[in-house]
Amino acid sequence: MRIILASSEVVPYSKTGGLGDVAGALPQALSRIGCDVAVITPRYTGYGKRSGDVVSHETGEMIFDDLRVPFAGAMKYAAVWRDYADGAPVYFIDNAEYFGHGYIYGSGNFDAERFAFFSRAVLELAKRIGGSPDVIHCNDWQTGFIPAYLRNVYWNDPFFARTATLFTIHNLAYQGFFEKDLLPKFGFDWQVYDGMEFHNAVSSMKAGLHFSTALSTVSPKYAEEIQTAEFGNKLDPLLRWRGGDLLGILNGVDYNEWNPATDKHLAAHYSADNLEGKLACKRDLLEKYHLPIDLDKPVVAIVTRLTSQKGIDLTREAIWRILETGAYFILLGSGAESYENYFQHVRETVPKQVGVYFGFNTALSHQVEAGADLFLMPSSYEPCGLNQMYSLKYGTVPIVRGVGGLDDTITNFERTTERGNGYKFYEYSADRLAEKFYESLMVYYDRDMWRKLQRNGMREDFSWERAAHNYLNAYHKIVGARLARGW
Ligand code: ADP
Ligand code: GLC
Repeated sequence: MRIILASSEVVPYSKTGGLGDVAGALPQALSRIGCDVAVITPRYTGYGKRSGDVVSHETGEMIFDDLRVPFAGAMKYAAVWRDYADGAPVYFIDNAEYFGHGYIYGSGNFDAERFAFFSRAVLELAKRIGGSPDVIHCNDWQTGFIPAYLRNVYWNDPFFARTATLFTIHNLAYQGFFEKDLLPKFGFDWQVYDGMEFHNAVSSMKAGLHFSTALSTVSPKYAEEIQTAEFGNKLDPLLRWRGGDLLGILNGVDYNEWNPATDKHLAAHYSADNLEGKLACKRDLLEKYHLPIDLDKPVVAIVTRLTSQKGIDLTREAIWRILETGAYFILLGSGAESYENYFQHVRETVPKQVGVYFGFNTALSHQVEAGADLFLMPSSYEPCGLNQMYSLKYGTVPIVRGVGGLDDTITNFERTTERGNGYKFYEYSADRLAEKFYESLMVYYDRDMWRKLQRNGMREDFSWERAAHNYLNAYHKIVGARLARGW
């Protein structure tokens, strides 16, 4: 099975969120179970102009500097770099016009143009590397153009005669809108318009949903949710229509990166059998956030993009009730200025209990996972969510809202049965969040029961191996569908 996975972010090279984690780990897991898989991603340069999301510039060796990409009425060129992350090769498209601005994502028409170019370059590079792919696995709107090019521009290219596409939705809310007048510039003729049209503009997310052989999303629950008006971002009719081709495959965790027994970022190591080191991590975290050290008090944490998706409004409303109990509150995140200002104000009001860090910091994200006792994810929607799974492994008890992947991975702890790995509420309400926090506190101060709860989580296994097998099964089905249906 020959797979090409295209993604706008790939850890350890680039990351703004969970997509980078997935595109970094899944191909390696696929390669370990015998898939021939190559990853293609942009090479972002100009780093330093905007700090944050580009993680590393170590992108291996340049293998050629003359990839020809017909685009915008001309022949454009890109250099191609290659690195071997951990088995599967990662190829980088290097074009300064589109990717030399020091950021991963910008906005508007130019962003659509950047990723339309990238998508076309993926197909040209596939041909240059040779060996027709059975499946091109596309991820989110940035790669939604790929199925559209295959069906409308490369439809009679013998190289892709058997190639199927899987389009994975990581977040339906980001749809890659652009003005329809750009379609000819991107190399499409008007017949594609119906497949991409969205309220008089064009959406590359919709292009991916419409033109791909099959669809998937990153948890079974989100696969159901997006077929409803509440979670469907106005694309639910199309998703219901394609419901028979839509799979929900839960993401995994890269336990090489996220394991408190080996994590290189931690002050001490620990595991389910010996949790002692976690206390040293808690002390270290409080010191890092310049807070007084009282190891008996619970540390409640969030690590997140500060957007409404993440239920920041609920945290904001519930925070005083959390602080009233004497708990610490620690935040690592960046995003909307209004949220940053609010948490800065909370920090200034209760400086002995609250620590904030605004920015993107990978080492600190590991340290927070290890040093905290409770982790909040009261998301308004959550396609999968990785941090709750990281929290479980780190013995940090998640309090989540039961949406998407959060509902699929977290079960409420019951004191009578001692079953469950966290706390879960459903209604989008700060009262429900506060109630779950109080419920968790009763167990927190019962040390034996708390250990039990922590261990229930630490012993869960969300490794990528399971997910990789699910993807491999899906690829086989999709190849069959492609042959039967012709696209
Ligand atoms: P999403 O992709 O919607 O942001 P996920 O839970 O899938 O949510 O993944 C978020 C990833 O980004 C996690 O690996 C998390 O640790 C990381 N992350 C989020 N915010 C930051 C930050 N400010 N600094 C470092 N890592 C962060
Ligand atoms: C998106 C989603 C998140 C998911 C991640 C990786 O960013 O918001 O829930 O875990 O993609 O699939």
